[in-house]
Amino acid sequence: MSDRSDLIITGKEFAFDAERDAEFERLIKRYPTRESMILPALWLTQEQEGWISVEAMAYIADRIGTFAAKVYEAATFYTMFNLKPMGKYHIAVCRTLSCWLREKQEIVDYLAKEVGVVPGKMTDDGKFSLEEVECLGHCGTAPVIQLNGEFHEEMDVDKLKALLATLE
Ligand code: FES
Repeated sequence: MSDRSDLIITGKEFAFDAERDAEFERLIKRYPTRESMILPALWLTQEQEGWISVEAMAYIADRIGTFAAKVYEAATFYTMFNLKPMGKYHIAVCRTLSCWLREKQEIVDYLAKEVGVVPGKMTDDGKFSLEEVECLGHCGTAPVIQLNGEFHEEMDVDKLKALLATLE
């Protein structure tokens, strides 16, 4: 998670399942060039697998008809794309200025102390993973976290405790 050039080769072929395949075909008709589909295809992959392997990048490049390097560039540039398996509950904490000024570190420290997960890691039971990410685009309601991609704003330790208590 923290080293975004450290990719995983699974040794297994990747392909979209029927639902994502249909969505890919639906979306690609809407874009002016096939390369515009790189980001949507990465999202579809992450939705299906939870993360993006080297094989998945190669598959996307083939489906789109572009170079794997272009898919790699996009996948490694945007921190919202997971490049390794994540916990059942993946928490992304914004570390950029507004969230930093509004005590995002208290959230990170709580997760380390009480949940046992630190940035870039997953708990041994695979339940939680944590990542610090760049601005999530909701700076006016900092500090902001995402739990499995869902936004939680004006977060503090009490709200985080309540949120974690709702998880199985
Ligand atoms: S600085 Fe955290 S959402 Fe923008």
